Amino acid sequence: MENLHPDLERVLLTEEEIQKRVGTLAEEIASDYADARRVVLIGILKGAFIFLADLSRELSIPHMVDFMSLSSYGDRATTNGAVRLILDLRKPIKGEHVIIVEDIVDTGNTMKYLYNTLKGRKPASLKTCTLFKKDREHLEVPLDYVGFEIPDVWVVGYGLDYADRLRTLPYIAELKKEVYQE
Ligand code: IMP
Repeated sequence: MENLHPDLERVLLTEEEIQKRVGTLAEEIASDYADARRVVLIGILKGAFIFLADLSRELSIPHMVDFMSLSSYGDRATTNGAVRLILDLRKPIKGEHVIIVEDIVDTGNTMKYLYNTLKGRKPASLKTCTLFKKDREHLEVPLDYVGFEIPDVWVVGYGLDYADRLRTLPYIAELKKEVYQE
């Protein structure tokens, strides 16, 4: 790829590869929920907003979108696992078919927190969807839809950032280690 940003090591997934997989994920979801009245997709800000926009537009069944925002205590590349809710849903999800839409599962702490929090609100069903999952041991949280398994490196683009930078690249790229490791 020409003109790769100097902080980037390499491109892991191209725009075309991502778009194709988002399309097949939407097809899987549409087929699994063919009999549901509607589905509520809950996008986790900020990282999942681009994925959610594309997934939602590819999804052929009735659905609504809502958002939550979380914050990890400490630096994001070295998070200690504590999660804090900073923006909640607009509407109750009791009796709804809910899918949590995340950008990436790293340790699984965030997804576990979301899963447990939303489960307590008594949805009709609750599933999880993440576009990327890092290749490492995960906490005990079910991942129902996974776009891609990727190596345990810091990635940016397609909604994912490093210190709010490089979020809007159309592809997914690996950050150079010297950028995020002292
Ligand atoms: P976890 O709680 O360790 O699974 O981390 C999940 C959250 O950390 C994601 O929702 C992202 O916001 C962020 N994150 C983890 N790994 C990366 C990465 O490689 N690039 C960008 N953000 C990441």
